[in-house]
Amino acid sequence: MRKKHFLLEEETTFMNHGAFGCALKDALHVSQKWQLYIERQPLRFFDRELFPHLVFVTKRLAEFVGCSPTDLVLVPNVTMAMNIIVRSQDLKAGDTVFMLGETYGAVKKLLRQVCAEQGAILQEEWLEYPLTGPGQIIRKVEETLRPGTRLAVFDHIPSKSVFINPLEEIIGICRQRGTKVLIDGAHALGVLDLNLSSLDADYYTSNCHKWFCSPKGCAFMFVKPEHQHSLRPLIISHGYGFGFNSEYIWTGLKDYTAILALHTVLDFWESVGVQRIRGYIKGLLTQAVDLLVGRWKTGLLAPREMFGSMVCVRLPESLQEDSAANYEHAETIQNALYSRYNIEVPVKALAGSLYVRVSVHIYNELEQYQELADAVEEMMSKEIQRVGGNCRCDV
Ligand SMILES: Cc1ncc(COP(=O)(O)O)c(C=O)c1O
Repeated sequence: MRKKHFLLEEETTFMNHGAFGCALKDALHVSQKWQLYIERQPLRFFDRELFPHLVFVTKRLAEFVGCSPTDLVLVPNVTMAMNIIVRSQDLKAGDTVFMLGETYGAVKKLLRQVCAEQGAILQEEWLEYPLTGPGQIIRKVEETLRPGTRLAVFDHIPSKSVFINPLEEIIGICRQRGTKVLIDGAHALGVLDLNLSSLDADYYTSNCHKWFCSPKGCAFMFVKPEHQHSLRPLIISHGYGFGFNSEYIWTGLKDYTAILALHTVLDFWESVGVQRIRGYIKGLLTQAVDLLVGRWKTGLLAPREMFGSMVCVRLPESLQEDSAANYEHAETIQNALYSRYNIEVPVKALAGSLYVRVSVHIYNELEQYQELADAVEEMMSKEIQRVGGNCRCDV
C-alpha cells in the first residue's frame, strides 16, 4: 500500500498521519495534470469548465457523507469553515458558547476572540483522564450545558486525546437545551461512517486532506438549510447574494485542483472498499495497542473501543515526570524519537502524564509499532537523563 499509493519515504517510520495527513499518489498526479492542463487555455478552464466539475464533485462527496449537495460546500480547510460558522453567529452580550477543554487550540482562539468581541461568555468544561467510557462525556455535557446556551462546539475526534466523541447523545442533549451544535470533524472523514442528515448537527465540517488522503487544500462545510441564510462568507466575491452554494464556490482566483482530484480519492475509497480500509486500520490498531501496552506495561487514555485510527498510549513509568508533565517534556521525547530513530510520532502531555499518539493508516504495518516499542525501551535504559527533575534526551 505504501509503495503503490503513497510517496512516503521508506526510511521513516511514519505514525503521525493525524498531523497533516498524507495524500494519495494518484490524486496528486491528477491535481498536477489539472494544473498543466489549465495553463494551456486558462479561459476555457475557468470560464467554461470549472463550475460543472465543482458541482459534480460536490454531489459525489455529499453522497459519500450522507447529505444533500445543496447543504454542503467545498472549502480549503476546517479552519476556514470554523471561522465562517463561528463568525456568523451574531452573539449578544451575555450569551454563552460551550466547548470542552479538548477543543482544538486554533478553534479555542477563534471562540475566545469572537466571544470577547461580542461580549459573550465562553464556557469550557474539562474531562478527567483516563476516561472510563463515553458515558463520562455524556454526563459532563448533561450536567454542565445550560438551557439556552447559544452554541456548543465539539470535536468529533479531538486532536490531542483522539477518542471518538459520542455525538448522537451529545447532540440529543443540545437539542433538549435549545443549543445549536457545531462539530469539528477534522479527523472524521474516512475514519468514521458519516451520515450528516441523520446525525442532525447544525453545522459539520471535515478535512478531505487528512484521513481521506486528498491533496492539501480540500475540506467540506455542511450547514443545515435553516441556518444557510444567516451564514456570512469570510470572503465576498462574485457569488455573494446568490445563495449558500454560490457564496462559497468561488473565493477569487485560486488553485482548485485539490478539489478536482477528489474524484480520484473517492474512486480509491470506493474501489479498495471503505469497510476493508477501516477493517485494516482497526485490526492494526488493536495489534499495535496490544504490543505497546504489553511491552511498556502501561495503558490507554480511554477504553480502546473509543479510538478510531489514532490512540494515546501511556509511556512507561520510567519516562514519566515526577511532577506533572508538560509540553516541553513531551517535545523532548518526540524530538529524540525523530532524531535518533527516524520515528515520526507525536508525544503529548495529557493531564500531567506523557502519551504517544499513534496513528494507523493503510500504509502502516505492525513492524513499525515494534520499532517504536524498541526505541522507547532503549531510551528508558540509557538515553534519557533526568536533569533537575526534567526529562532530557541525550540528543
Ligand atoms: C480537531 C482539529 N480541528 C481543526 C484542525 C485544523 O485543520 P486545518 O489546518 O486543515 O484547517 C485540526 C488540524 O489538525 C484538528 O486536529
